[in-house]
Amino acid sequence: MLRRTLLAVSDSQRIRELVTSYPATRGVVDRYVAGDTSADAVRVARRLREDGLSVTLDYLGEDTTELAHATAVVEEYVSLIGKLAAEGLTDGGAVEVSVKPTAVGLYLAGDGEKIAADNITRIATAARDAGTTVTLDAEDHVAVEATHRIAVKLRESYPDLGSVVQAMLRRTESDCRELAASGTRVRLCKGAYNEPEPEAFTGRHDIDRSYVRCLRVLMEGPGYPMVATHDPRLIQIAGALALHSGRDTKDFEYQMLYGIRPDEQRRLAASGAQVRVYVPYGDDWYAYLVRRLAERPANLRFFLRSLGSAS
Ligand code: FDA
Repeated sequence: MLRRTLLAVSDSQRIRELVTSYPATRGVVDRYVAGDTSADAVRVARRLREDGLSVTLDYLGEDTTELAHATAVVEEYVSLIGKLAAEGLTDGGAVEVSVKPTAVGLYLAGDGEKIAADNITRIATAARDAGTTVTLDAEDHVAVEATHRIAVKLRESYPDLGSVVQAMLRRTESDCRELAASGTRVRLCKGAYNEPEPEAFTGRHDIDRSYVRCLRVLMEGPGYPMVATHDPRLIQIAGALALHSGRDTKDFEYQMLYGIRPDEQRRLAASGAQVRVYVPYGDDWYAYLVRRLAERPANLRFFLRSLGSAS
């Protein structure tokens, strides 16, 4: 309930201004975001690689409303990939990138879907030339169908292009069957958006049950499952299902967000599992921060206390 309320009020421009202008917010942002610049992203990626973790980098921003801005986002990704490649960080896909279709133009008036597809193609080409991959983040359910269409089309030329599915959406188990059959790289997460009841499971247990059903489909298929969760029970179930499906540790990976359960990330990697950390960077962090606060009431309490002590 708190989660849904927070996600709903976060659209308000007044609340955005209040949160982003408070100096104490920075401390909380720093927990979840690598920094404002690509230099920060490369530095954090390098450090995580030294700890034996793989990385996916996300240049923060979404719901782009101007073509020039969408183009600038693409240029940022291409430049980032160049910097990563110069340090050998992209070798073997060790550091890849995650892209939000709405950040590169999906919602632009006219032919947003084509603009987004062309822009993702530019990023995927740079990634392929650097020896790495792109994963398309999943946004709210309104964007899911177009994102899926773009991914299917682009995989004809970039078969490594990864997709993300959200267990909270009712359609996802069926999407998993389709994606698993085609041998795709699929990141399975619970879903971070405020979705309406007809489209989504809203109860925590229903979402978890859907996650396990989807996980089973992905593990039993020929694709590459990317198990994105911090939930200890689901991590345990993923390990058991992988074993049951005869998968080796190199045949799937765990994924977690930067700043969340870092000890568990290292513990899993030390046990021989493949672990990839999702690292966002950039100054447009507001929407990302709100989703992280909404996931955990304790984070919100900590955040409100920080604001209180700053005022
Ligand atoms: P859950 O929220 O139940 O948390 C389980 C445990 O993890 C908590 O008890 C707590 O210990 C810890 N935890 C979780 N969130 C925390 C937080 N914010 N702060 C501190 N501790 C926390 N979503 C989406 O809609 N589209 C996408 O493309 C992606 N991409 C993505 C990539 C990766 C690598 C991850 C890990 C997650 C995403 N997500 C996402 C977000 C995802 O949908 C979901 O909102 C979060 O992962 C939280 O769900 P959990 O599975 O961790 O479970």
